[in-house]
Amino acid sequence: MRIGYAGLGVMGGPMARHLITAGHDVAGYNRSPAKAQAWAEAHGGRFAGTAAEAASGAELFVLCVGNDDDVRQVVSEALAVLEPGAVIVDHTTTSARVAREMAQASQAQAVSFIDAPVSGGQAGAENGQLSVMAGGDAEALDRARPVLMAYSKAIQHMGPPGAGQLTKMVNQIAIAGVVQGLAEAVHFAQAAGLDTDRVYEAISKGAAQSWQMDNRWKTAAKGEFDFGFAVDWMRKDLGLVLDEAQANGARLALTELVDGYYAEVQAMGGGRWDTSSLKARLPAP
Ligand SMILES: NC(=O)c1ccc[n+]([C@@H]2O[C@H](COP(=O)([O-])OP(=O)(O)OC[C@H]3O[C@@H](n4cnc5c(N)ncnc54)[C@H](OP(=O)(O)O)[C@@H]3O)[C@@H](O)[C@H]2O)c1
Repeated sequence: MRIGYAGLGVMGGPMARHLITAGHDVAGYNRSPAKAQAWAEAHGGRFAGTAAEAASGAELFVLCVGNDDDVRQVVSEALAVLEPGAVIVDHTTTSARVAREMAQASQAQAVSFIDAPVSGGQAGAENGQLSVMAGGDAEALDRARPVLMAYSKAIQHMGPPGAGQLTKMVNQIAIAGVVQGLAEAVHFAQAAGLDTDRVYEAISKGAAQSWQMDNRWKTAAKGEFDFGFAVDWMRKDLGLVLDEAQANGARLALTELVDGYYAEVQAMGGGRWDTSSLKARLPAP
């Protein structure tokens, strides 16, 4: 299939590479062109200097950029050249509002727009094991699904435009509380003078087990945070969550608290640290 891909960062770069490996003809575009140039040379993709160039002649246009405004900009440039019948799949984490807006603008040109945020992080993108939660036209998603499976382990259709983004918000709410719980657990173990490795062995097979515990306990205990999913991205996501909660009436006391803790981590210079850096606020006594 002829595919345009915009946003060749930590997530988009490896996702677009998987599409080439699967045998598709992929044109890659990125805001800083050097990244797109390096990606095209390394993986045998076509370099595109603009979003419109990447979208030109594409049956499928995929993006994974930064925030709402980035999506608005890239999608409007792509819509100027996409043919009727084309499908846009947006893997960026955005507001549900922008997903609905983009779906409406696309529909006006007989193009389908699917909001399709992902979970699984950098490792999931590299290994082609992402979980995709999608909103929008189910029939268009079914057409794109075999292509998207090049980097996904599961693709779930959640409902109308915006439903994918709302599901991703649920994911981030659940993560925020777990990560703060993990930070306090490690902190308490250190305050109590316990050996944190042995505590992990003792409790990680029981009811306290979580992905965060299995993947972040040891690094949090050592104060290592220079990797993983950045606090700046998490704050963007929690901002979207808290906005949406204001509109739908959900009460998110814990999420609000943890968002404030992440603001403190940013003030400590940890904007690019992994989300487990909530532990950095609670050093060993
Ligand atoms: N990293 C994760 O673990 C993870 C997991 C799930 C979801 N996400 C979400 O996925 C999205 C991307 O995350 P990421 O970690 O891949 O970020 P990233 O490494 O910063 O990649 C974003 C890429 O998009 C490009 N870009 C941004 N705005 C653009 C625009 N207006 N036009 C063209 N290109 C643009 C950036 O170009 P430049 O080179 O110029 O900056 C960058 O290469 C975010 O919404 C994030 O919340 C990330």
